[in-house]
Amino acid sequence: MKYKSYSVYDDDEFFERYTQKRGKGNAPNELIEQPIVDELLGDVSGLKILDLGCGDGKYGVELLERGAAFYHGVEGSSKMISLARENLQGRPVELELGAVEEAAYQQAAYDIVISRLVLHYIEDLASIFEKVKSSLKDRGIFVFSVEHPIITSSYEAYHQKVKRGNWIVDNYFAAGERTNEWMGKEVVKYHKPLGTYWQLIRAAGFEIVELRESKPERQHFEQEEEYQRRMRIPLFLILKLKKAN
Ligand SMILES: C[S@@+](CC[C@H](N)C(=O)[O-])C[C@H]1O[C@@H](n2cnc3c(N)ncnc32)[C@H](O)[C@@H]1O
Repeated sequence: MKYKSYSVYDDDEFFERYTQKRGKGNAPNELIEQPIVDELLGDVSGLKILDLGCGDGKYGVELLERGAAFYHGVEGSSKMISLARENLQGRPVELELGAVEEAAYQQAAYDIVISRLVLHYIEDLASIFEKVKSSLKDRGIFVFSVEHPIITSSYEAYHQKVKRGNWIVDNYFAAGERTNEWMGKEVVKYHKPLGTYWQLIRAAGFEIVELRESKPERQHFEQEEEYQRRMRIPLFLILKLKKAN
């Protein structure tokens, strides 16, 4: 069975494995992706934030502890949003169960929109980028991360089930559906070459402030060997965009 979008996160077995893996605190998300997202967001004090695909809401807790004024999480999986509700209880938040594609997107309401490792599950990003732009205040910021296009091009190397020190890049310019067998389930993701992201961003009228390919930083790794391994393959693409008009 192929799982699309958030449906896999509601599968008991997958949910168990995913939450265990993230709970260890040493996933590339924590060691590589989050430090870059944090840096790109900068000071969030007093700001109103929308998070598309907020998962368990733990990042919302961090942002509020750093002084954000309000956190609105959108999440498709009912299991994940239940965790978010627990984690964010009693804080200034709104939590919306539903697809990123169908969320409410209040007009000119947010200082920052974030989306961490979610948009590679979505085929049509043009309409999402339009909605994100309309929901941002003037000069508002959109920071998102996706699996790097080198990774999403082909998951053949992933299926080799070894600690990878290289990757097979294939069918790079053919945007579209890819199936990744991830934590025992067949999960559908959508590959887009880097140039396609650039075109989507420009078409939506965003200015690119930063583009990062998730180069790891030594201080986040306990072991030199793991750091060196992570220096070999870019795992994530992370962009900071500004609403230009
Ligand atoms: C890899 S997790 C990341 C969660 C969180 N952003 C984080 O970084 O910890 C992806 C999350 O996006 C959600 N998701 C995927 N596609 C979605 C969609 N189309 N609409 C809403 N949520 C979606 C999943 O349910 C899952 O919680």
